[in-house]
Amino acid sequence: MFLDKGKNEFKNDVLLGLSDPIQKSIPSKYLYDDVGSELFERITLQPEYYPTRTEILLLDNYSNDLVKDISKEIILIELGSGSSKKTKFLFTEIIKKQNKLYYFPIDISFNFLNSVVSHLQNSVSNVIVKGIPDDYINGINHCNSILFENNFEIKNVCRFIVFLGSSIGNFEIADAIDFLNDVRLQIANDDYLLIGFDLEKDISLLENAYNDKEGVTAKFNLNLLNRINKELGGNFGIDNFSHRSFYNKDKKRIEMHILSNKKQHVFISSLNKQFCFEKDETIHTENSYKYGLKDIDHISEKAGFSIAKEFSDENNWYKLVLLKPK
Ligand code: AVJ
Repeated sequence: MFLDKGKNEFKNDVLLGLSDPIQKSIPSKYLYDDVGSELFERITLQPEYYPTRTEILLLDNYSNDLVKDISKEIILIELGSGSSKKTKFLFTEIIKKQNKLYYFPIDISFNFLNSVVSHLQNSVSNVIVKGIPDDYINGINHCNSILFENNFEIKNVCRFIVFLGSSIGNFEIADAIDFLNDVRLQIANDDYLLIGFDLEKDISLLENAYNDKEGVTAKFNLNLLNRINKELGGNFGIDNFSHRSFYNKDKKRIEMHILSNKKQHVFISSLNKQFCFEKDETIHTENSYKYGLKDIDHISEKAGFSIAKEFSDENNWYKLVLLKPK
């Protein structure tokens, strides 16, 4: 079953990540359970967290420019859709061009996705929503099957895939290229991929965005320990750990870690294993890469895309890039 498979994967990844003698780590996708997705939504409302509001401003200003030259029927597919709030600007513009829109939000947080989908179904008209609870590539594959089963002629529609929020920043650069290449293999030459990239900027702006005063980012990060306690029978004392995020200048990324406040041992019953933490030892939980303009060109080019359009804000903090297969 889907859920058991997911649980086993979580178990294996935690075992592997916490057994590394050099640097403990856990893949960032596990931050986004239902509680984590709610907390991330709260992060996006913090005054220090500029990416979301900057991206909203860009979508508000440029959604029309993004879709106006597309004459085929647009099918909207969103990778890591979360609350789907930002996508509404695209709905509005697309609906002006065609009388109905098929929208496929793909997200790994099953319950969160379900509640967003039912909310959308009751609040936006002319948009037919089908939630896909899966990872990105399987999700696109699933959308393709649905289109095929419903006799859509791929040559008559334009798949407009959106990957917002600078979620691409979670990938190492080489993995981002591989991932975009995989996306390209799932689509046709006339389809589009819209990506939000967070740009390099003043270090204090970056570090503040990942250390908000209200402590929501800290809660979001430490929720991973709650999740291990709940799902894998861990006995992490949450108060014995702290949130750490900082900019790694050499690697051009924000790193988020969970730091052990003291030397301690933690037992995880489903692994039947004890893990030892030194004082100040960390678990690396997330990377968030920040891009220079050359990096964006490089990644797009290597993944087989060319840049069709790009829009950034007046501070040059954030960029929306519309890609087309080469
Ligand atoms: C959802 C991955 C884009 O990296 O800015 C926010 C996640 N982590 N604060 C980001 C996040 C801590 C966010 N992404």
